[in-house]
Amino acid sequence: MKNSTIDNLIRPHIVKMKPYSSARAEYTGDDGIFLDANENPIGSVCNELHNRYPDPLQQNLKNALASIENLKANQIFIGNGSDECIDVLIRTFCESKDDAVVVCPPVFSMYEHAAHAQNIQVHEVLLTENFQLNIEALLQLISKENNIKIIFICSPNNPTGNLIKENDIEIILNHFKGIVVIDEAYQDFSDNISWTNRLSEFHNLVVIKTFSKAYGMADARIGMLYADDAIIHYMNTIKMPYNVNQYSQTLALTALHHVDKKNEFVATLNAGRKYIQDELAKISFIQQVFASDANYVLFKVENANDLYKYLIAHKIIVRNRDSAPLLKGCLRVSVGTKAENEKFIEVLRNYIV
Ligand SMILES: Cc1ncc(COP(=O)(O)O)c(C=O)c1O
Repeated sequence: MKNSTIDNLIRPHIVKMKPYSSARAEYTGDDGIFLDANENPIGSVCNELHNRYPDPLQQNLKNALASIENLKANQIFIGNGSDECIDVLIRTFCESKDDAVVVCPPVFSMYEHAAHAQNIQVHEVLLTENFQLNIEALLQLISKENNIKIIFICSPNNPTGNLIKENDIEIILNHFKGIVVIDEAYQDFSDNISWTNRLSEFHNLVVIKTFSKAYGMADARIGMLYADDAIIHYMNTIKMPYNVNQYSQTLALTALHHVDKKNEFVATLNAGRKYIQDELAKISFIQQVFASDANYVLFKVENANDLYKYLIAHKIIVRNRDSAPLLKGCLRVSVGTKAENEKFIEVLRNYIV
């Protein structure tokens, strides 16, 4: 677990902390007389049994994920959604008021939100006009500021839908001494191979994934963070002991037995994406339809706010991105079922500009 480069980046007081040790973490067997956690031994007031605490380190799930990703279980952190992975990662590395993170808007807002909640400075380096990393600006920033601990990259990027160029990410990984996060929430919808394959090359690489998208398990709240085992050790040190409930752990394990079904979902949703893109391109008032490697499509119109209101009036809810940098006039639509996609297109066709 010892990695002195990582140790130097972790908040100093966390390096000195011992992980919170619940009694259940110390005893690994399933049989025994469990009188350690002040649980109700008789049962639960509901029909199903809910009376025992869950596995604090989610070992069964981690073992299954480790064999899928060809990694070790101690390179995996499981969070209550990847939102929690982002939050714990920031709190592991960044000192309130002193440290900073970098985000590349337009991008998923949780990185900035989680940093601000801890009073951590957020530098914004806008993507270029074709939604790629502004490498020059990033390199300039990291050479100038020495308090930056984490750079967040989302690929495929939410809300633009495109993958971020592998070469550019490599440049950042090689030049930045801090942590580079690649959020692959939507990677299943792309043809790209996962960055988890390159964890052994870069000790500062962190990859985030989720069961919420292609697996269709958003309400189970399970996110995964893959990294050097030293990073995982310190994240485990500060996480809440029972951060992932037993139902979600079991559900996620079951989900991993249905990868074929997930792949079928991906094929169906990618076909839906193509339908939406093709049909949007035929509508005269739509100015631009962006390429997508995710389960959503970004498109541009003259007045996004008016169109958004019109869609709402027809009970169709999309994401209005008009106020985000570089996205004036843009709406993001998630790929729905076949019937939902057709209804969406039909309602759009009836819009009078
Ligand atoms: C890029 C990205 N990362 C992470 C998340 C959060 O996912 P989770 O449901 O695992 O918290 C989302 C949710 O929309 C997202 O778009």
